[in-house]
Amino acid sequence: MSTEEERQAAEPASPILRTDHDRRAPVSLLVAIALAASLLGIVLGILIDWFPFQASEQAEQIDTVYDVLLAASVPMFVLVMTVVGYCVWKFRMKPGEELLDGPPIHGNTRLEVIWTTIPALLMLALSTYAYIVLRDIEAAPAAGQPELNVRVVGEQFTWTFYYPAESEGGEEIASAQLYVPQGQSVKFDVQSKDVIHDFWVPAFRMKIDAVPGITTFYRVTPTRLGSYPVVCAELCGIGHSVMRQTATVLSPEDFDQWLADERAGGGEEETGGGGEGEQAGGGAVDGAELFTGVQPSCGACHQLADAGTPAGVGPNLDESLAGKDEEYVRRAITDPEADIAEGFSGGIMPSNYGETLDPAEIDALVEYLMETTQG
Ligand code: CUA
Repeated sequence: MSTEEERQAAEPASPILRTDHDRRAPVSLLVAIALAASLLGIVLGILIDWFPFQASEQAEQIDTVYDVLLAASVPMFVLVMTVVGYCVWKFRMKPGEELLDGPPIHGNTRLEVIWTTIPALLMLALSTYAYIVLRDIEAAPAAGQPELNVRVVGEQFTWTFYYPAESEGGEEIASAQLYVPQGQSVKFDVQSKDVIHDFWVPAFRMKIDAVPGITTFYRVTPTRLGSYPVVCAELCGIGHSVMRQTATVLSPEDFDQWLADERAGGGEEETGGGGEGEQAGGGAVDGAELFTGVQPSCGACHQLADAGTPAGVGPNLDESLAGKDEEYVRRAITDPEADIAEGFSGGIMPSNYGETLDPAEIDALVEYLMETTQG
């Protein structure tokens, strides 16, 4: 066979065959590159703020898992890429080598044992760690600790949240928005009326499919006051992307008050969207009360000196509304995407306050904000 003869004839002169001494030098260079790139990758990976707020105890543990997995996988990736990149560059074909073949290589038992054992041990360690965290975040609270049970029902294209009746045999309280108490374990029993949805509150980090015919669950212990998006994370039809609601973490006292109001008021709020609790006193709508009230709970996201709210999800209103006219303030409520404050991104503030608040409520909020931010 002529090519075989050619190959053998060319072999002694082949640039692919090198002495041991020649091969050693680049190894230390490769190790140095891999170490530097790994270090850079890990530092970047941990410094970059990948996630939304941590609003639950579970979130802290899950983010730690993420960081550990990242720190373990970056060196693997870098190692493989460095060797591949080096080989592509170093052993590329040069002119005149078209018919050459590399030296025959047989198995290397020591290498094979190493590259099987190390990844296997790593996998075992990481999955054990992940399993322990999973058991931990799914665990029921200790005996005697209270736990709130919320039934979450998905349908095309909305979630409904059911709270336990006040007494055995009573009727559940249905709510279009999710409210949970800070610092208390909440167990969500997740169901679906039609197709598969997925109940996800990114700030809580937990998510699970809502599957017709069965009840799935997860637990969350909210830690951070504020409002966070509830998202459907399973493509469920044409309205999937608008299957979004709000989860609001309230102090235990505010939560008890909210639940008591809901129980007293019956289910009429479902379509209205809110506000009647704040107006219960009768007469004019009070902008200050609206601002800090359960709906729309501006104070959960915005700092405002007059209201004493320290939140930083959205812009500090004392600064962002100073010197602005009434039109601007009104637009900031009803069309928040129109002017995005510096340092904040769009799409965070709910854009439907124009519909969920009635005109009198919006007037009251605008009046209150004009009074408090123009001093
Ligand atoms: Cu429900 Cu996507």
